[in-house]
Amino acid sequence: TWPFYAAAVIGYLIGSIPFGLVLTKMAGLGDVRKIGSGNIGATNVLRTGNKGLALATLLLDGGKGALAVILANSFFTQDYAVLAGGGAFLGHLFPIWLKFKGGKGVATFIGVMLAISWPAGLGVALTWLLTALIFRISSLSALVAAALAPVYIYILQTFSPIGGTYYGDTQRIEFAAMMALLIFIRHRENIGRLLKGEEPRIGKKKS
Ligand code: G3P
Repeated sequence: TWPFYAAAVIGYLIGSIPFGLVLTKMAGLGDVRKIGSGNIGATNVLRTGNKGLALATLLLDGGKGALAVILANSFFTQDYAVLAGGGAFLGHLFPIWLKFKGGKGVATFIGVMLAISWPAGLGVALTWLLTALIFRISSLSALVAAALAPVYIYILQTFSPIGGTYYGDTQRIEFAAMMALLIFIRHRENIGRLLKGEEPRIGKKKS
């Protein structure tokens, strides 16, 4: 039926907007894909030295994931939150505007998680923050937070006194696990650098 496809396609198109690239170009900082890791995400935007722009990238890339879910929840009677959120996440990873060469999906993942189950999303965001405060490595924080996301939904679903879809059903555990898997695949190069102890710290410019 059409709402099914509409939720996925609208989510995908929203997720496809590469805010990191758009903002750095608008600010006259050139192409963010030519610096640091070459990624279009907030971590790499920070390597331009512009903290405000990095924060804006984080919020907008996260916001688009949440927006896709919120729109699906408001306009469709069926539960298409996972479909729209998944569409937005895939849109960020494979944007039509950039010949399907997108980002690593961390901010969009956190936005989607917050919108489909805010307690789990909050857990993921705090995990990212805590790991970043301790190790100061963005990719490591992303990997730890992504790996724990399905665990958080499982815990909430199993032990929450309220339960139900609000805190995440089984489908949402699988959904979080799929996104986490894609985040790991997208961080292949980062994982290689982490293992060699060569991954740069947050905010450090990298050649
Ligand atoms: O959000 C992506 C982050 O986990 C790593 O970014 O630029 O260091 O590869 P980057």
